[in-house]
Amino acid sequence: MTTVVTTSSNQRGQDLPVPFARLGRNLRGVTTTTSSPTDTSTAAHTESVTKVYGAGDTLVTALDNVSVAFERSKFTAIMGPSGSGKSTLMHCVAGLDTINTGRIFVGDIDLSGLNDKQLTRMRRDTIGFVFQAFNLVPTLTALENITLPMDLAGRAPDQEWLDTIVATVGLGDRLSHRPSELSGGQQQRVAVARALASQPAIIFADEPTGNLDSRSGSEILEFMRTAVDKFAQTIVMVTHDPLAASYADRVVFLVDGKVVDDLQSPTADSVIDRMKSFGA
Ligand SMILES: Nc1ncnc2c1ncn2[C@@H]1O[C@H](COP(=O)(O)OP(=O)(O)OP(=O)(O)O)[C@@H](O)[C@H]1O
Ligand SMILES: [Mg+2]
Repeated sequence: MTTVVTTSSNQRGQDLPVPFARLGRNLRGVTTTTSSPTDTSTAAHTESVTKVYGAGDTLVTALDNVSVAFERSKFTAIMGPSGSGKSTLMHCVAGLDTINTGRIFVGDIDLSGLNDKQLTRMRRDTIGFVFQAFNLVPTLTALENITLPMDLAGRAPDQEWLDTIVATVGLGDRLSHRPSELSGGQQQRVAVARALASQPAIIFADEPTGNLDSRSGSEILEFMRTAVDKFAQTIVMVTHDPLAASYADRVVFLVDGKVVDDLQSPTADSVIDRMKSFGA
């Protein structure tokens, strides 16, 4: 299938498909904070965020004074030992979990200023989530799974954009197949396509290749890389795999709920070296 995509320019002068020209948009009906100047070049950022689970003997500090920014149109990997707070960080920034202290901004919106309804709308309009287990609906076809979130929200998909996603996902005639008839890698590509379809400002992926063999894993990593390079998508991905992390533009390392390192332009070898330095 050939898809013709009209383009416009973003702030960096790159040509973008038209739907992405809207990525920096403000959320309708959500009041943005004006209490402090915020860095709108980041898709999301945290300021001194602490997240504690439990109390007394069972108290766990899952995030300990975390300040981190995720740049727009970049692919960031989060790495760290099991229990270091990677999933907690993504859930909190995505507004799926609350924090104890600090502040979280998605674009220029302070999540603490949102009521439940606004938070739900922020998640729906701004965030895409890809889980380790693909979470596809087994009775729907691949294409129906991709458009499901918009169907549920009662929104018509942008057809031009949907055609672009469908062409990029590279599933061809398998789009009419159900998940059980697709390989793990194909299913996860559907899950990423579903996250892309609503044009979220940021996609979070929690170990999206964790259940895949290396070939299926590289398929999905290539697809996410393409989404960043070609469509200026912002992606934040948790992974344990140095090779997977090497597809990212940057790796943020967490240990015991703290950001301990930050690596630009990672290679598998440089990631392994950093991991050794803090005993992961
Ligand atoms: N709902 C919860 N209740 C209590 N403790 C929790 C809860 N969720 C996470 N934790 C604890 O918070 C810490 C961070 O957990 P988190 O799931 O963020 O780790 P992770 O880095 O994603 O680990 P993994 O690589 O194993 O997925 C862990 O000690 C975990 O046991
Ligand atoms: Mg986790």
